[in-house]
Amino acid sequence: MKRGRIFSGARPTGRQHIGNYLGALQNWVKLQDDYNCIYCIVDIHALTSLEDTRNLQNNIHEMILDWLAIGLDSKKSILFVQSHVPEVMELHTLLSMITPLSWLLRVPTFKEKVKLQPDNVNYGLVGYPVLMTSDIVLYKATVVPVGEDQLPHLELAREITRRFNNLFSYTFPEPEGILTHYPLVVGLDGKEKMSKQAGNDIELALSAEETIEKIKTAYTDPARRYRTDPGHPEKCNIYKLMFYFNSTSISAIAEECKEAKIGCVDCKMILATAINKVLEPIREKRAELANNPKYITEVLSDGADRARVIARETLIEVKKNMKLI
Ligand code: TRP
Repeated sequence: MKRGRIFSGARPTGRQHIGNYLGALQNWVKLQDDYNCIYCIVDIHALTSLEDTRNLQNNIHEMILDWLAIGLDSKKSILFVQSHVPEVMELHTLLSMITPLSWLLRVPTFKEKVKLQPDNVNYGLVGYPVLMTSDIVLYKATVVPVGEDQLPHLELAREITRRFNNLFSYTFPEPEGILTHYPLVVGLDGKEKMSKQAGNDIELALSAEETIEKIKTAYTDPARRYRTDPGHPEKCNIYKLMFYFNSTSISAIAEECKEAKIGCVDCKMILATAINKVLEPIREKRAELANNPKYITEVLSDGADRARVIARETLIEVKKNMKLI
């Protein structure tokens, strides 16, 4: 017996990196056994910040390849692209009528976006959390695994849900956000969160050699200028990443670093080897999937078909309760 329905989504950013993997995807894979999971590539959400959509289809394709390669399973879960089930946009319009604008203008991510894209503060951007709420409640999901940055959106989703249920009749369960165990994964530059834009990421689909090259560029403990300087593993990003990929010899490595018995280049090689070991089967599976575009199309159209059945049912209930029908 499954414990309920999960919904989560991610914008189509293309190839996934180890930050996406450790921060979200690995957890999504595990949740598949205990819940009915729906995982969505939210292309409409992407449009709130995207004026050039030339890479959109390619990004969706690269992303689903990674999702399947790491173990999201289209038999266990529903995997689909948001716009393939347009019912979500209908629900978004309906929910927009009961969402006070003041709630939306307060959202921290909205304020950040206004600073980031001052020339593109579009109407859809303000409604971003309403669309996200629609994603979740259209499928009556009760559990939403997200990163910390999404918690304000989740809070708003709960408020909109409550308001809808109060204004009309009980329709939606209140969704709850759950955080993953993994904290923010820092990028190879040691400064920001690992991200594609910052160029400080390691893509899952890199070859073993490319991964080694990329890790060689990583920032380590700044106090270790010479090989003989003692290191501070707790300040070293390579060491942090080792935790996730190489947990067995980790304390020995820390000691050797502190006593300057191993250098940063050695550590980088240890990390690269460990990462490559974990990613090798993922890359093999990805290459296989990439050779079969027809299968990928089938996975997504089957996912959308299954999602649409639930979506239509909810939408009829919503309209009845709003007295639209
Ligand atoms: N806003 C989320 C993000 O940027 C993506 C998203 C859209 C989402 N709809 C969702 C996440 C519904 C969880 C549930 O990461």
